[in-house]
Amino acid sequence: MYLKYEYKHFEKMPLKIWPNVAEASEHVARSIALAIRQKQQDGENIVLGLATGSSPIKVYEALVRMHREEGLSFRNVISFNLDEYYPLSKSEPQSYWRFMHDYLFDHVDIPRENIHIPDGSVPMEEMAAYCLSYEKQIDLAGGIDIQLLGIGRTGHIGFNEPGAWEHSLTRMVRLDHLTRRDAIKDFLQEEAVPYRAITMGIGSIFKARAIYLLAWGEHKASVLCDAVEGPISASIPASYLQKHPNVKVMVDQSAAGLLTRVRTPWLAGACNWTEDLICKAVVWLSQQSNKPILKLTDEDYNEFGLSELIMEEANSYELNIRIFNRLQRTITGWPGGKPYADDSNRPERAAPAQKRILIFSPHPDDDVISMGATFMRLVDQGHHVHVAYQTSGNIAVHDHEALRYAEFMAEYAQDADSYAEIISFLTHKKAGDPDTDAVRRIKGLIRRGEARAGARYCGLDDDHIHFLDMPFYETGKTRKKPLGTEDVQLIQDLLEKIQPHQVYAAGDLADPHGTHRVCLDAILSAFRQLKGRPWMEQCWLWLYRGAWHEWAIDEIEMAVPFSPPQLRKKRQAIFMHQSQKDRPPFPGDDNREFWQRAEDRNRETARLYRTLGLAEYEAMEAFVRWKDGPEMI
Ligand code: F6R
Repeated sequence: MYLKYEYKHFEKMPLKIWPNVAEASEHVARSIALAIRQKQQDGENIVLGLATGSSPIKVYEALVRMHREEGLSFRNVISFNLDEYYPLSKSEPQSYWRFMHDYLFDHVDIPRENIHIPDGSVPMEEMAAYCLSYEKQIDLAGGIDIQLLGIGRTGHIGFNEPGAWEHSLTRMVRLDHLTRRDAIKDFLQEEAVPYRAITMGIGSIFKARAIYLLAWGEHKASVLCDAVEGPISASIPASYLQKHPNVKVMVDQSAAGLLTRVRTPWLAGACNWTEDLICKAVVWLSQQSNKPILKLTDEDYNEFGLSELIMEEANSYELNIRIFNRLQRTITGWPGGKPYADDSNRPERAAPAQKRILIFSPHPDDDVISMGATFMRLVDQGHHVHVAYQTSGNIAVHDHEALRYAEFMAEYAQDADSYAEIISFLTHKKAGDPDTDAVRRIKGLIRRGEARAGARYCGLDDDHIHFLDMPFYETGKTRKKPLGTEDVQLIQDLLEKIQPHQVYAAGDLADPHGTHRVCLDAILSAFRQLKGRPWMEQCWLWLYRGAWHEWAIDEIEMAVPFSPPQLRKKRQAIFMHQSQKDRPPFPGDDNREFWQRAEDRNRETARLYRTLGLAEYEAMEAFVRWKDGPEMI
């Protein structure tokens, strides 16, 4: 039997859910600015505890803007950073020293002598004394007034990994396997990621008078929920913050996705029952009770705390049928619409029978991984399908692969001289060295060839395959440039040229700085710019998810089922991306290959539909239709 609670009973720290990262970061930056100014008025210094990583970036951007535009001075600021990799010198591009100067210190008037960042080049034998003095310096400065924290996927704060002791102070630590995996994006290769770091301890962080814990993106949802709702435990070090008297947790909607008040709000208090929420609750009830929807009884609703729903509906049977039909109608073998059929209950319009369709793929293989079967179906059903590869994907090609092509070209053209420099660079390259322009070009062309092969396999003619090579991506590093007007213009021009009835795009909200998210932002910006064009009125945008996640069943608006042979065909299309096979450079924390992840996920969607009592298919690809609104941006 479930009892009703207010969500405060679940969340053991004060937590605010913001509509987006920008608004939340602006709020945190404003609070910091206010505190800085108050201390200035009193003629005092303020001590800030600072974090690196993607979480605080927008806070720093806002502070820099306030310095430039609003005269916010940092003269009275003393800063202590949480951590630094070890061993790593300041001059390395991955150092947190470099990060802090790039994002904040080089743009504000903080006195250089007030900046403290753990030094990753201290000799090992001096480490214990160094850590002790770092801790002492914090105390001598009067202790930290405001501490900024991100949360790692292991639950770490600073680099206090699972197992960290509650009273730990500044010290050297070993990094968790998952943390090192996440750091590959900065170091380019796993072998280049240091095994150790210097970090302020949990005890050091606890001495701060106020703490902001920031978490953005779906990839943080699970660990955030554990930290905020779970028991205090060394296995999730951020959960220690539950004991701190003045902590505020700031999250965006994606990171909040697994909190009780969002995932199952009916357990956390009174609900505003919209049709979407009712659907979510019925799907949840079916899964909790292990019963297909049409077998749910009044007793099930009562037992799982959902009696409120059947009070409004009179009885469960009608409600069950309504939700069953809603889900049933999401299934279609006609993703481009079924020509000349009644489309009042179908996800897509019947007319025009042959649509102009544009599929956007952030990297060169996302199209086939995430919607390969739908892609082929759209071509087979006679639509005019185009595909646009948004980025070159060049950083995700191994050096040995590029070397193979360079040697091939040198031998084929019998021109060793022209390729000598490239071959020598690749032969002597050290882990983490950035690629030269020529090498990046080779890597980009490798992926371009693979994408072309994949799209051709899906049935496209070459003049329907577009490569945008969006400039924001072309840094040669995992840290990208911010999205610029040229990026958006490329998308806008292509949309204008094709004037599609249907657009497909990767709707990944997981990592706010990840390539998928930036590529989606570019498309949404282009849509906004094109608003008002007559063809736009007929243009629908469907979102698929990347290789890691799938839409929740209650969110899916179009589910395209396919058979075992079609699943095998999809696998072949993914195999065209040979440079990504076996072990691509950025595999994430999942050891499966991309085709395996895609198949597991598509089979799982089909399985979930079946357990709800719907038809049994081999696999399904799922889509959500984008409706202009702040929650989707
Ligand atoms: C960084 C730090 C780490 C990060 C955490 C989250 O100084 O101490 O604890 O805050 O790993 O990283 P992002 O923000 O990149 O997701």
